[in-house]
Amino acid sequence: MGQRLTLSRAAHLVGVSRGALQKRIREGELPSHDGMVDSADLLSAYPDFDLEDSGAFERVARIKEESFGRRAREYMLPSSEVLAQRLFAQSQELGDLRRHLQGYHGLVLSLMERIEKLSAKSPSIELTEVGKMLESGLAAVLGSIEPADTIGLMDDMLRIMSAHVTVRPSGREFLVQGHDTLLQAGLGAGLGLNYGCGNGNCGLCKARVVTGEVRRVQHCDYVLSEAERLQGYVLLCAHTAVSDVVLEALEAAGPADIPEQRIVAKVRKLATMGSADTLLLHVQTPRGNRLRFLAGQSVTLGLAGDGLDCSATYAVASCPCDDRNLYFHVARPESPGVDAFADSLFAGALKTGDAVTVWGPWGEFTLSRGSSRPIVFVACDTGFAPANSLIEHALAVAAAESLSLYWTATRADGHYLANQCRAWSEALDDFNYVALDAQDAATGGREVAQTLRRDLADLAGHDVYLSGPQAFVAAAAAELTAAGLAAPRIYSTVL
Ligand code: FES
Repeated sequence: MGQRLTLSRAAHLVGVSRGALQKRIREGELPSHDGMVDSADLLSAYPDFDLEDSGAFERVARIKEESFGRRAREYMLPSSEVLAQRLFAQSQELGDLRRHLQGYHGLVLSLMERIEKLSAKSPSIELTEVGKMLESGLAAVLGSIEPADTIGLMDDMLRIMSAHVTVRPSGREFLVQGHDTLLQAGLGAGLGLNYGCGNGNCGLCKARVVTGEVRRVQHCDYVLSEAERLQGYVLLCAHTAVSDVVLEALEAAGPADIPEQRIVAKVRKLATMGSADTLLLHVQTPRGNRLRFLAGQSVTLGLAGDGLDCSATYAVASCPCDDRNLYFHVARPESPGVDAFADSLFAGALKTGDAVTVWGPWGEFTLSRGSSRPIVFVACDTGFAPANSLIEHALAVAAAESLSLYWTATRADGHYLANQCRAWSEALDDFNYVALDAQDAATGGREVAQTLRRDLADLAGHDVYLSGPQAFVAAAAAELTAAGLAAPRIYSTVL
């Protein structure tokens, strides 16, 4: 019997997604008890697990390197205060274990002494045998060097580097690493935690610590009442976890829980991707006024101030875990006047530092909560933008068994981020990327659905997310439904 591990830690240690681990549990290949797995069982299920190959080992090894840069150290290592508190807690645990062991050792010795005295008084074969058994057993324990529980050892080490958080009532889990606050770590892990400013001013991120220890690491102006403090409330954006923590926190169940926001942001970058017909627009919100949104949603962008006269709605291409830096993929309109905002971008009317109004978020094209089915993203041209946001989110949540991306291009530069997609495919075991070309959107929709029918024997067991022009989405949805994929398994957005 080894060490008991939460699913998040176990997945983290062997370098697989939670979804992949849950699949092994469902299929009876990995026993679990109360949402925990045993490190010995984990090692049997992943016999090829290799410390050298696991991300965990790499992280620890990198920390040891003398040449480690300051930024990376901050990313990996908690602050010295948090580190000291975790080391103190672990040494207390070790001290308790040592006291227990010494107690058991003393007990065995006095038992042996007692047996020896009783045997001398009235010799008995049974007593002599028990004495010998204790003696040889103790010698074996003291003399043996048990093979190390590799996963258990790694978990002990990672407990110092990171803390595990369970959120109630959802039961979702995440790890807090480096200098992250509870809010940053939760958003990074794909949780829809409730928050506002992200900066210690609004109080919207308050949550109750049920068990475990937290520490304030960011300044905050918002003052919790005495009653709230006594009940264990803290601001997630200002605190980090020192030990493993259980929190009671509000989470968005879906788009309806995300408030409408209007923020004046600044253009950070405007550059072409692929050919000159697709632009990457990077917009940054003020530090204390971030955009809360769900992966896959869209916002309306308008030129300057309050005016939304020249505006257009685009899908956010980036992950909600970075709520200040918003990325958009803007295609050159087929004819002038169709999208005045895009026209002004291609005409060079917007420069770095210019103000842009961000209004939203909108739309229900978000990841289905609670589904662990394999996910297929099917995008056409800049329909890749919401797919990109959803993929980053799905990778953070790590709940799906596998992810696939089928990206159809109807324009010459249609696969404008193909390198990034290939990199996902090469780096991740459970990510598959297929690039397709089509003469128009409707044909592309039909053809991609036919490809899915050929590639996926169990198509009906997948969740499919369609994004692109109306003709593409309609054609693909019709083909997929005809192929036996139930309508509730198809999620779509038209761009
Ligand atoms: S998000 Fe505003 S105080 Fe934490």
